[in-house]
Amino acid sequence: MGVFRDDFLWGGACAANQFEGAWDADGKGDSVIDHCIGGVFNKQKRITIEIDPNQLYPSHEAIDFYHHYEEDIELFAQMGFNVLRTSINWTRIYPTGLEDEPLEAGLAFYDKVFDCMIAHGMEPLITLSHYELPYELVRRYNGWAGREVIALFEKLCHTVFERYKDKVRYWLTFNEINCATAEMGAMYGTSNLQGFEGGRDELYVGPQIRYQSLHHQFVASARVVKYAHEHYPQFKMGCMTVYLQTYPATCDPADQLANQKNMRNRVFYTTDVQVRGAYGCYCKRLWEEQGVTIEWEPTDAQELREGKVDFLSFSYYMTNLIGTHDDLEETEGNIVGGGKNPYLEASAWGWQIDPDGLRFALNEMYDRYQIPVMVVENGLGEFDKKEDDGSVHDTYRIDYLRKHVAAMREAVRDGVDLLGYTWWGPIDLVSHGTGEMRKRYGFIYVDKYDDGTGDLSRSKKDSFEYYRRIIASNGEDLG
Ligand code: BG6
Repeated sequence: MGVFRDDFLWGGACAANQFEGAWDADGKGDSVIDHCIGGVFNKQKRITIEIDPNQLYPSHEAIDFYHHYEEDIELFAQMGFNVLRTSINWTRIYPTGLEDEPLEAGLAFYDKVFDCMIAHGMEPLITLSHYELPYELVRRYNGWAGREVIALFEKLCHTVFERYKDKVRYWLTFNEINCATAEMGAMYGTSNLQGFEGGRDELYVGPQIRYQSLHHQFVASARVVKYAHEHYPQFKMGCMTVYLQTYPATCDPADQLANQKNMRNRVFYTTDVQVRGAYGCYCKRLWEEQGVTIEWEPTDAQELREGKVDFLSFSYYMTNLIGTHDDLEETEGNIVGGGKNPYLEASAWGWQIDPDGLRFALNEMYDRYQIPVMVVENGLGEFDKKEDDGSVHDTYRIDYLRKHVAAMREAVRDGVDLLGYTWWGPIDLVSHGTGEMRKRYGFIYVDKYDDGTGDLSRSKKDSFEYYRRIIASNGEDLG
């Protein structure tokens, strides 16, 4: 018998705003991300308040999955996917978030996509909010800072639950909900962008707004989880966290404490609420130290208790160090950077590659919560060179994949109940952090470039066949 469960979910993960394109097709409204122009490494994307026809917005065409979904899903099926994670773009269903009636064209699009997945033997795993807030809700409410957005999100969820109840069983409420514990999260996760125009250096949204917005997301998530449990008992409702694993930089006890605090404040802050149904004991002090006062409605605590998720999912890419000594060298990371680890190598984007960290993360999460876990993002964004004959020899990606699957295998042997694994960006798509196309994650190459050129044709990289073998052997054949 193999290590992974027989019904292990193998597949890939994408987000609507990073691959669908067709940003204003068939009545779709503009999302926050549709106002983001591209950046490059070390130079973040920028938000423009109005859409400027002279600028290039990577999400507007992306890789045009909207018109290529059949071809793409067919390619995923060739790799043997039995799950595909994507998100519903809120503005395809409710263009501004405020309409009373959903847009039929948007609903019909996801019907076609889910039908296509199912026809190819794939379980849809659907994120309800993946950095896709309608921009109108930024104008009106400063994103999730406004409590009004909770009800609007509930409306979206009720609509899509009812529409897709026979097609979708696995749902995630918010992608990387904990990103708003960091400043950059105000741009993506909680979208507190009112009055903001500029780049990363100019974006400062204080903790009061971010933590209050997060509180609104917690209530929203709990309400829709409870609603789903009451109306659709077949659904499995999950939370999604960016697993920002840090290690203490030295054996100095001060570094241990600093790391414990960081893990609580950045990662467990949200999983404690969504899995246990209440804020962690350390939150009172965190709020005090940051001058935060959360405004609660009288029913919030009970709603959080009643909206606990069924499984826990997370993204995992890299690890960093945390320390209290001045000599710690800094490096980049997903959402936040951190200390450089001399034992690890890093990708071209400075993300430190750490397969053992995935095993560590899985054990930490499962130990702490004792509910099934899923790795819903993991991958390597790198420069790829397409040869004249169309091939891409991405040995670095194969190596990354091999080591991370091996690490998951060890975690399962350690006792973790692991449900599945969805590689981030199985097809090249727009980088979330920088808006680049050249930061490629895919097993499938897409002919699309940062200047907007490319014929959008798809071709297989060497990693395509490698992942197919892994899946066919249920994670046993790692070559
Ligand atoms: C996660 C996000 O943070 O990491 C994805 O959920 C994102 O949306 C992925 O694309 C990889 O990050 P990046 O910045 O390399 O695209």
